[in-house]
Amino acid sequence: MLWKLLVEYLRPQRRLLLAVVVFQLAASIASLYLPTLNADIIDEGVAKGDTDYIMHIGGIMLMVTLLQIACTIAAVYFGAKAAMALGRDVRGAIFSRVAAFSEQEVTHFGAPSLITRSTNDVQQVQQLVLMSATLMVTAPMLSIGGVIMAVRQDVQMSWLIAVSVPVLLLAVGLIITRMVPLFRLMQARIDTVNRVLREQLTGIRVVRAFVREDVETARFGRANEDVTDTALRAGRLMALAFPTVMLVLNVSSVAVIWFGAFRIQDGSMQVGTMIAFLSYLMQILMSVMMATFMAIMIPRAAVSADRIGEVLGTESSVRPPEHPLSFAGRTGRGELQMRDVGFAYPGAEQPVLSGISFTAPAGQTTAIIGATGSGKTTLVNLMPRLFDATAGSVRIDGVDVRELHPDLLWGHIGLVPQKPYLFSGTVRSNLLYGKPDATEDELWQALSIAQAEEFVREMEGGLDAPISQGGTNVSGGQRQRIAIARALVKRPELYIFDDSFSSLDTATDARLRLALKQHTAGATLVIIAQRVSSIVDADQILVIDDGRLVAHGTHEELLETSATYQEIVNSQLAVEEAA
Ligand SMILES: Nc1ncnc2c1ncn2[C@@H]1O[C@H](COP(=O)(O)OP(=O)(O)OP(=O)(O)O)[C@@H](O)[C@H]1O
Ligand SMILES: [Mg+2]
Repeated sequence: MLWKLLVEYLRPQRRLLLAVVVFQLAASIASLYLPTLNADIIDEGVAKGDTDYIMHIGGIMLMVTLLQIACTIAAVYFGAKAAMALGRDVRGAIFSRVAAFSEQEVTHFGAPSLITRSTNDVQQVQQLVLMSATLMVTAPMLSIGGVIMAVRQDVQMSWLIAVSVPVLLLAVGLIITRMVPLFRLMQARIDTVNRVLREQLTGIRVVRAFVREDVETARFGRANEDVTDTALRAGRLMALAFPTVMLVLNVSSVAVIWFGAFRIQDGSMQVGTMIAFLSYLMQILMSVMMATFMAIMIPRAAVSADRIGEVLGTESSVRPPEHPLSFAGRTGRGELQMRDVGFAYPGAEQPVLSGISFTAPAGQTTAIIGATGSGKTTLVNLMPRLFDATAGSVRIDGVDVRELHPDLLWGHIGLVPQKPYLFSGTVRSNLLYGKPDATEDELWQALSIAQAEEFVREMEGGLDAPISQGGTNVSGGQRQRIAIARALVKRPELYIFDDSFSSLDTATDARLRLALKQHTAGATLVIIAQRVSSIVDADQILVIDDGRLVAHGTHEELLETSATYQEIVNSQLAVEEAA
């Protein structure tokens, strides 16, 4: 998966990567050249007292060094650009994938995990690309080139390379194999911290109301402790790695100097050659070490890439059709029909809805009433395809909603959810959500119908009054009315109000319904209500009980024919009388 991800998302960056390779190549050739020049200075210049030669070669060394620095900087610069572009593109891809998800996939991953995946996990992959941009070419070049150059300097001492490199590899390898499982654990635990934190922040008021701060603090403490613990264990290994490497490095230097000294003494080697050999050995060991550290990042990035791949590879269960139909040539105008519809939540054994058939004609109000948990919200969620029906079909003007292009479908529906969500911004920005070019008059008209005009006028700034994320700075009822206005501004053909009037007092409720009827003339209205008083004048009332449509008709008809409806009416009357 890591490989696939890198190939796919680095392809647009291939020019940058080519530049990285070229500059790294140049930088490593320069690095390899330096010790040889140094040996020349010592053997030809210092030993013979030739100052001009020292100055000359020294000048060249300076130039080579500057070139090496410039190339390294360039390589890192282009590498960073490529890595950041990769991060941007992968995050973008995750976002658009998640945006297409239905409720089902979001529930499957969980929002906190989706957030970690698009931030922290992307960062891990990005980090690997960034590291590779500094080492990808340099490390192999320096280690292989270093061996060749060192052997060219002195063949007899090359056994030192053959010993020290495997020792270093073994030492670093031992440490790394212990680190990899810790990294895997780390990602999972970061997920947990995010999940716990998110839940607690969302439910902070409940936590306070039930005096559960201590319990929740302890719960967060545990999750936090777990991450710290894992990070510490990885950190300790990391701390062990550096001294180990230094030990191998220093022991090898001592060995080179020790054995070199004997060979210099018997005249078979020059001092410069020994110094050069030492430099090459250091270069080899350093690059072996860096390559191994890069090797640590690969498994960590691979874990992250898998997690990203899972998201990118998940198809939304609400798939747009391959050949979407349009409404062209249709005769109706927003008539909604359900034919023998059934629905079961994924993983649930019992269907929540079964055998539901009805028609909600255009220009009429269809009300849905039923006990809590009877499946009303589930039923209306099938209309805009928040979920797809598992049996039967939902049709608008005779066309199955699954055959319509989603944008077309959603453009025709104005849904006010049971728990409406407002976006951070202003009242205006929220109202313009469904129709960005609506005029000021349209906005006020919608607010007036939604019985929200008065309180919006009283808010500081009116239409430009700030709304916080989720709409938490207005009351539940106000939020609901702004959401109703938002749907009204859009002027869809099919309005769905999921329990949108229950937080209004009876008088406001009545005024709203009257204004609504005038404004939406010709459109199809589907209203879920708790109060019978909200739906007495509906053209058609559907009574849902335990996922089945048990009766339908007008208020008067149902009073005579449906026992369930009578029960609902009686219970509400009883409550009113008692009050
Ligand atoms: N996301 C979900 N996953 C699994 N089961 C669910 C889910 N949402 C609802 N259910 C189940 O479906 C049933 C119907 O829920 P639904 O929200 O449609 O009821 P409702 O009629 O709208 O109730 P209310 O009047 O309280 O809003 C519930 O009993 C619940 O067990
Ligand atoms: Mg509901």
